[in-house]
Parts: sequence; C-alpha cells; structure tokens
Amino acid sequence: MQGETLPSVSVIGLGYIGLPTAAVIARAGMHVHGVDVSQAVVDTINRGEIHIEEVDLDGLVQGVVQRGLLRAGTEVEPADVFLIAVPTPFHKDGEHTPDVSYVLAAAESVAKVLKAGDTIILESTSPVGTTEQLRDAIAAARPDLALPGLDGKEHRLSDFHGRRVLLNFWASWCGPCLDEMPALARAQAKFGEQGAIVVGIAMDEPARARQFLAAHPVGYPILLGRLDSPSTSLRLGNVGEVLPYSVLLDGNGRILDARRGALDAATLEHWLAPPAAP
Ligand SMILES: NC(=O)c1ccc[n+]([C@@H]2O[C@H](COP(=O)([O-])OP(=O)(O)OC[C@H]3O[C@@H](n4cnc5c(N)ncnc54)[C@H](O)[C@@H]3O)[C@@H](O)[C@H]2O)c1
Repeated sequence: MQGETLPSVSVIGLGYIGLPTAAVIARAGMHVHGVDVSQAVVDTINRGEIHIEEVDLDGLVQGVVQRGLLRAGTEVEPADVFLIAVPTPFHKDGEHTPDVSYVLAAAESVAKVLKAGDTIILESTSPVGTTEQLRDAIAAARPDLALPGLDGKEHRLSDFHGRRVLLNFWASWCGPCLDEMPALARAQAKFGEQGAIVVGIAMDEPARARQFLAAHPVGYPILLGRLDSPSTSLRLGNVGEVLPYSVLLDGNGRILDARRGALDAATLEHWLAPPAAP
C-alpha cells in the first residue's frame, strides 16, 4: 500500500473478536475507531487497558492507544471500512433461533455515517441470509446512496467504483449552475475515459430537470437528487445547500475535495485530468 492513503477503520463491538482485531489493524498503521455500547469497555480501552483475557493483548492495546492509532467511543463515526463484531446469541425459545438484532442495531448505527464506496464486513457468526438482511436494512435507512436516473432506474454511486467522480449538484432555476454545465461537458469530452467522470445531480423537480435537459443536453449522466431533508447535497457535505456545488470522489467513493459555487477553469481541469503517473 506504499504511496496510498491507508483506510480508516471502525470496529463495532469490542469483545473477544473485535478488540484484538481492532488492535492488530491499528498496529499495521491504520487509524481505528472502536465502538461499543458499554461505556465501561470504552473507558477501559481509552486508558490503554483491556477488559478481556487474551494473551499479550494488554501490551498491544496499550501501544496502539498510546500511539493514537486506536480510540474507542459509544457512537459510530465515519470511516472507510466498518467491521461488525457484535454477538449473535440464541433466542431463549428452546429452538436455538439466532437473534440477529445486535447485528441489525450495529447496521443501523453504521448507516447513519455511511458514504458511497465504504466497505462493511460482518464478522459476527450469523445465519445464512444475514448479510442480505444487513444490506436491506442499510438500503432502507440510506436511500440517498442510490439515486434514480432520468431513465427511471436506480443508480448507485458505487457503480462508478474504480473511477474518480465529479458530482455536480445543479437545478434548472439556478443560473450559475446552467452557465457552468457546458464547461463541465466540454471538460468531460476533453479527458474522456481517462479522466474523472462527471455526474450531474439535479436538485430539482424531475419534470423541470428533464425539460431543461431536453433543450440543453449535456452528454454526461444525470441523477435525480433527493430534496427531502437531509438532501443528497447535504449528505455530501453541502451544509449551506448552495448551488452549484461540486464534490470530487476518489475511485473508492471517498471525498477528495468539495467546492460551493461554479468551478473555475483551473480547478475543473485539475479535478477532471487523469491523475499524474507516479
Ligand atoms: N469471524 C470469526 O472468525 C469469529 C470467531 C469467533 C467468533 N465470532 C463471532 O464474533 C461475534 C462477537 O464475538 P465476541 O466473542 O467478540 O463477543 P463478545 O461478547 O466478547 O463481544 C461483543 C461486544 O459487542 C458489544 N456490542 C453489542 N451490541 C453492540 C452494538 N449494537 N454496537 C456496539 N457494540 C455492541 C458488546 O458490548 C460486547 O463488548 C460473535 O457473533 C461470534 O460468534 C467470529
């Protein structure tokens, strides 16, 4: 991974599986945020101590906490990779029915901070179909991660995985947005497949966006943003909900840069140009 930025990791559930895993990942140099519902567990780890018995784990945890690589908390924070290590006990129904409510509670807390391109790993020993349940729970909690296109189909930002993406938020009533769009289309055409892909997100009534695009086609994909709060642009950092607003995502969907207002020519060129060869 030399020359690459190491991902940040969140480990949810800091017991016999979660804590050693978090400590080993932190020892490899990644910043790890451990999450547990138990304040006592969190406090113990933040002191550089451990609450479980595991050979040599005490020194390892003490070291990574001292180096600032492992922190613990009770609330999930944004990260690039989420590892869920909460229990899946049996229901006390005499049938040994697995209780996946802990996994689904963890999924709900991850959904709040999830962004396009993040990875979720389920470590919990759980019945077949639990990952699908987890996926569906997250999709229901975060419909903004998939947006309808003008074609009426749902598109996921992760569809562009591997390519840098310039998300440009616009609306048909926003003059500076409309002034900026031809420049985006020209820059996209100039760099083609090699550069970042431009994706327009219409923060508008779908009929108005369609009407505008019928008269002024742009040649790059347009998705329909969600207007209800928190809107798609707010989810991607547009706190003032100013338009136009642009975000540059890396090939893993991580935000590299964001600008309110129209992009100047130099920034547009810089964002869209293929990354320089190492
Ligand atoms: N993948 C593997 O190789 C492997 C191996 C062994 C066990 N496991 C599984 O890993 C899971 C965890 O096992 P363990 O032994 O670490 O359990 P554990 O009881 O030691 O620890 C679980 C921790 O999760 C915390 N927790 C519960 N709900 C939470 C939530 N919603 N958010 C945050 N924290 C929460 C608990 O407070 C506890 O500290 C189990 O399902 C176990 O079967 C996996």
